[in-house]
Amino acid sequence: MRQLIAGNWKMFGKLADVPAYASAVLAAPTHVDLLVCPPFTLLDRFAAALKGSQVALGGQDCHANPQGAHTGDIAAPMLAEVGARYVILGHSERRNDHGEANAVIRAKTEAAMAAGLIPIVCVGETEAEREAGEAMQVVRSQLQHSLPAGFAGVAAYEPVWAIGTGRTPTETDITAMHADIRAALLAQLGEAGAKIQILYGGSVKPGNAASLLALPEVGGALVGGASLKAEDFLAIANAAPRG
Ligand code: 13P
Repeated sequence: MRQLIAGNWKMFGKLADVPAYASAVLAAPTHVDLLVCPPFTLLDRFAAALKGSQVALGGQDCHANPQGAHTGDIAAPMLAEVGARYVILGHSERRNDHGEANAVIRAKTEAAMAAGLIPIVCVGETEAEREAGEAMQVVRSQLQHSLPAGFAGVAAYEPVWAIGTGRTPTETDITAMHADIRAALLAQLGEAGAKIQILYGGSVKPGNAASLLALPEVGGALVGGASLKAEDFLAIANAAPRG
């Protein structure tokens, strides 16, 4: 399966950044699926700049309802209308900053699927949970309670302590966690669980991408900081295994 290299811009970026970034990623390698998830304010401009290309667009969150009196929120059909194909859900920054619990993330995931979007559902343990030997248990519980029945989307393993820190788990730990996530997906979703791509996220950089992306059951990367520079993002995409 082609790897998915997804850039999560988080709360960074200006309209003026779009043209140069978009033209750079249009020269992306063709052996991977490339996805840019900018802030909502840049989606429309990006959609115009990337029109007709293979580079996909995504949102960073959506509401569980298709419309309504929810000040400050964005509905999944709104993302679809502006040209997004994906939406990141349950990122640890949403779980922490906005107190999003698994049940909320599950409802949002259902809303995303109903709107025809591909949800990327994030899971991952904190440093304290890893040190306590609870990482797998925490991730299993997040999967169990965040993924709806009939989930069709992407899973992203992002250890909270590896986000923006320059630290990553060992290759052995990533391999073990991705194998465990695969087993959990199969147990939860049956055969469909075999087809879910599992991304790794947390301090993915051009320098470590080749080794991280070559690990078994790693189906791509969810990239934060390094996705803001087109050159670094493309270097990560180029590091993905071919076929
Ligand atoms: P960094 O790549 O900056 O560590 O962020 C990872 C992340 O949170 C992507 O969603």
